[in-house]
Amino acid sequence: MQVRLVRPNVSTLKTDVLVLLQAEGQKRPEMEVPLSAFYEAGEIKGKLLEFTLLHGVAGFAATRVLLAGSGKPEKLDSAAVGKLAAGAMRFLKGKGVSEVTFALDLDFANAANVAALAQGVLVGVWEPDQLKTEKGDSKPIDSVAIAIPGSADQGIETALEHGRIIGEALNLARDIAVEPPNALTPAALADRARAVAKESGLFIDVLDQDRMRQMGMGALLGVAQGSAEPPAMIVMQYRPEKATAEGHLGLIGKGVTFDTGGISIKPSEGMEKMKYDMAAGAAVIGAMQAIARLKPGVAVTGIVPAVENMPGSKAQRPGDIVKSLSGKTIEILNTDAEGRLILADAITYAKQLGCTHLVDAATLTGAIVVALGHTSSGVFTNNDALLDHWMAAGKAAGEKMWHMPLDDEYLEQLKTVYADLQNIGSRWGGACTAAMFLREFAGETPWVHVDVAGTAWLDDAKPSMAKGPTGIPLATFVSLAMDWK
Ligand code: BES
Ligand code: MN
Ligand code: ZN
Repeated sequence: MQVRLVRPNVSTLKTDVLVLLQAEGQKRPEMEVPLSAFYEAGEIKGKLLEFTLLHGVAGFAATRVLLAGSGKPEKLDSAAVGKLAAGAMRFLKGKGVSEVTFALDLDFANAANVAALAQGVLVGVWEPDQLKTEKGDSKPIDSVAIAIPGSADQGIETALEHGRIIGEALNLARDIAVEPPNALTPAALADRARAVAKESGLFIDVLDQDRMRQMGMGALLGVAQGSAEPPAMIVMQYRPEKATAEGHLGLIGKGVTFDTGGISIKPSEGMEKMKYDMAAGAAVIGAMQAIARLKPGVAVTGIVPAVENMPGSKAQRPGDIVKSLSGKTIEILNTDAEGRLILADAITYAKQLGCTHLVDAATLTGAIVVALGHTSSGVFTNNDALLDHWMAAGKAAGEKMWHMPLDDEYLEQLKTVYADLQNIGSRWGGACTAAMFLREFAGETPWVHVDVAGTAWLDDAKPSMAKGPTGIPLATFVSLAMDWK
């Protein structure tokens, strides 16, 4: 998909579809079609994501004009612009359109909106149909232009490029996350990461089972031992040519390629969804691609512990006690609380690699979905400064984050007489006890944990997004690295 900037006279522009913003409560004066009938009938209100496709509009050289509802102008931030662009692309799908031009009125033609538009266009066209042999839409849209008024501005060209890089990274992460679990084994996930590293010039190291055993990653290996598929610890490294910021950021993403629950097996209904238990790992791989291309001034290491959680004959049992890389021993009370076990070793390894600040993301608990639904990701931390930074990055990236509590009282629930920790708490507050478990491994290192179990996957399509993986929190990862100080 090509996305480029043009600076034409919008009315004489020859294009398949010209997209014009239609603000709520306003009437576009320049149109020579009798739009007043639409306005009077209440057919055009200008609400965000309301689309009206018009043919043969007098005064415009475009074949068709799409009036794209943009809501109240004061509420049209760049996140809304991105949504609108994605929604317009989805609306035009299957309507015989191959080329589209978005016209940004002067008030909105700034760098942030151009970036959001480019990103939204790419995010909007993505479909989870890679393995369908008969695709519905025979004529996909392959070229998009963004028409802006005024003279050339380097900032806007750069913004377009940024938006495109993040959109492409999101779609890469979604392509990986949507792969079925028979194809996307831990080894295959490592192959995807290797391909990204090769193409974008990142250093990559994939630890195999033997190396992990030598190092003592007993928490991760305990989870992996029930599967015939060997585990992998994927490490991707970006180093700036000239560091402009201190510190070394570690991004960690849960990479459970399928979560049956292990011996503490899950119910069969809906189990197929547990192929997305590596969505946060895919978001780390995509974020590393974007970071390699955008070149922030801070060192970033991406780590994806990859395993399959299966109940094979060698599987770990409830009652087993494993020794983690940190040296802490863990009593396994439920083999379905496997994410925290692999993340424990990944967090310790990140510290060994010299990371000074850590963010982990994981489809960690059903409890966070109960608490926050599918709208916001749950955020936990041991460091308020890093938290502030993360929340600001989330806002800039248009990914909703909600701060959740950590408290030593939760730790009481993780105590056992047989080992240093047990891997589950009591029935309530499951997202908090899971986060508390991870904090024991982060220790004093500034750390943020993001539970994306409710946000990494859409069960039903939205007007602005296909069903399936969302890529969250990739854009926040990248925003954090780009704004590192
Ligand atoms: N991958 C799941 C979490 C999950 C559940 C994600 C539902 C999305 C939807 C995780 O490994 C898990 O099984 N967590 C358990 C923990 C429990 C055993 C303490 C859960 O949330 O039920
Ligand atoms: Mn599980
Ligand atoms: Zn899981």
